[in-house]
Amino acid sequence: MKTIAIANTKGGCGKTTTAINLAASLGCQGARVLLVDLDTQGHATLGTGLTCDDQVGLYEVFAKRALLRDVIVRDVVAGIDLLPATRSLGRAETLLSDWPREMELSMHLAQVDADYDFVVIDCPAALGLLTTNALLAADELLVPIEMGLFAMDSVAKLHHAIEVLQQKHQRNFTVRILPTMVDNRTRLARSFLRNIWERYADEVLPLMVHHTVRVKEAVCKGLPILQYDADSPATADYQRLAELLRSEPHLSNEPGDNLDAQQVERRDAVEAAIA
Ligand SMILES: Nc1ncnc2c1ncn2[C@@H]1O[C@H](COP(=O)(O)OP(=O)(O)OP(=O)(O)O)[C@@H](O)[C@H]1O
Ligand SMILES: [Mg+2]
Repeated sequence: MKTIAIANTKGGCGKTTTAINLAASLGCQGARVLLVDLDTQGHATLGTGLTCDDQVGLYEVFAKRALLRDVIVRDVVAGIDLLPATRSLGRAETLLSDWPREMELSMHLAQVDADYDFVVIDCPAALGLLTTNALLAADELLVPIEMGLFAMDSVAKLHHAIEVLQQKHQRNFTVRILPTMVDNRTRLARSFLRNIWERYADEVLPLMVHHTVRVKEAVCKGLPILQYDADSPATADYQRLAELLRSEPHLSNEPGDNLDAQQVERRDAVEAAIA
């Protein structure tokens, strides 16, 4: 089981959209996926067409009143099970802070280790105890970043927080940066893409998610983009992301280590788009 936390303290940069569509693309490619909605906004839950407000959820699991496998909703989308955000999730941060329980999610996910190939965790836009739990359960941290100054700034701050966390817990996870909502027809987007490549060359993925209104339309229907519009550029982008994460079980952050010929080709395509 490979666990991917999707986090960025910047709000609205595509975390939930990436969680839903990455999970759906992995599921479509035959992987068994658990999507975990760790945000009290419950948008990953809503985006799969569900509302689970009154159900027993992760709070009850943390409070030892339920087992994780019993609060999972099965087959919300083909190949995907969901650990939904329920109303009680709002109390989880307080419960976890009673005595800092930073490994709680990791411990409970271990129960379902044999059931899934991937766990995809949608984190809130804050570095509270829920996000910390996600990071400490993760093999990889995927950081969606939109093309703007605030997003660039949040990546720098996130790096600092990650370093502190990794040192404190002697834990290592790979960091991957995913440019999202990219409209590379604009000079500004191209300039930010270039900037990301220059500053984070060893972490930025050799692909991006294009901006398209079809993503918003799909959410309104409670569907992942691949079920709503198979021909959308974002469908192809998320399929490529899923392929990449499936084909590279353990990426490292050593500069240049991660790029196979195909990825180099894609990176060159990105660089061509920037030029
Ligand atoms: N590729 C895309 N093209 C167009 N719109 C997009 C794309 N990706 C995301 N969006 C839209 O951008 C908005 C923010 O996306 P999303 O909710 O995924 O961000 P988030 O980081 O999860 O936000 P929050 O911090 O509030 O949890 C949503 O309205 C979503 O539909
Ligand atoms: Mg979100």
